[in-house]
Amino acid sequence: MRLPSFVFDIDGVLLRGPNVLQPALEAMRKIYDDGGGWRYPTAFLTNGGGMLESEKAKQLSEKLHVEVKSEQVILSHSPMRGLAETLSDRPVLLSGRGKVMEVAAAYGFNKAVHTSQVAAAFPSAVPFSSTQRYSRCLVSEEGYGTQKMPIEAILVMNDPCDWYRDAQLIVDCLLSGGVLDGSVAEGNVQEKVPSLYFSNPDLLWANDFGRSRYGQGAFGLIVETLYKSHQAQPVKPVYFGKPNPQPYRLAEVTLARQAKAMGINANAFIFAVGDNPAADILGANRAGDHWVSCLVQTGVFKAGSEPSVKPSILVGDVSAAIDAALHRMRQEHWHSLR
Ligand code: G3P
Ligand code: MG
Repeated sequence: MRLPSFVFDIDGVLLRGPNVLQPALEAMRKIYDDGGGWRYPTAFLTNGGGMLESEKAKQLSEKLHVEVKSEQVILSHSPMRGLAETLSDRPVLLSGRGKVMEVAAAYGFNKAVHTSQVAAAFPSAVPFSSTQRYSRCLVSEEGYGTQKMPIEAILVMNDPCDWYRDAQLIVDCLLSGGVLDGSVAEGNVQEKVPSLYFSNPDLLWANDFGRSRYGQGAFGLIVETLYKSHQAQPVKPVYFGKPNPQPYRLAEVTLARQAKAMGINANAFIFAVGDNPAADILGANRAGDHWVSCLVQTGVFKAGSEPSVKPSILVGDVSAAIDAALHRMRQEHWHSLR
């Protein structure tokens, strides 16, 4: 009999803010055997980030009482690792909360400067900001983001904490051809505009507040709108993260490896459980016929409304999603015998 694989979204499916949702613990008991580990290939695919995959794996292991390995975790910025192949020794500007400097260093970005460092070095660049965090600034110390060594790419790795500061500095960086020290005069149109990458396009996400919160996609809209108010040609950012294809391909790789180790048929049925129709359901529906989208009602999508993107399976919570998936697999097996 063919076995399913599972891909879990995190916020709104397993957690709400710091709190573990009860059905998540039930779900884990159905697919994890304390003695033998995972019964099915399993991955955790989130548009969150701000830490290394290994740290997220540790966090999930503690919260869900299972052993999650870092290879099973795909964060919104995981696909950015691929960018380091061309940008490893080029100056890049980072935006985002959490440990994005450490993440960038681990991915191989050797000349990264954080918006917080730029703000600390040039306080008058962001007069309304009071969130400076780093004392060292690689613009003044190493010359990254000066006319000699302009920024070549901007990486928004996670939702930033100070949207004003980061929108101002990112738009400055785009308009000045990657120069952060204020030395490029306004109106001096630059030919080389740094590339702009966002790690996810989520307009909304679900934490422990009663209503969905704005996510990185909302920040992206602000940056794009501000840029458009200066330039006729819009900036064309690249968005990683669900519903875009890159994280799904990474998930398939880890699931296939696990399936091989278990000696089972790889990636025949991948059940993707998520709470956000615009991210999780659209992404899984587009990822290929072997992906089955399961929408739950514990996060962004609420019972009683019509989902903006139709899932293959609609259930209350993640535990019910496991039941529905296993039921579908039994039907599949029965049909194959006829
Ligand atoms: O910042 C987190 C958020 O945008 C979504 O997280 O786990 O629901 O994909 P998740
Ligand atoms: Mg979610």
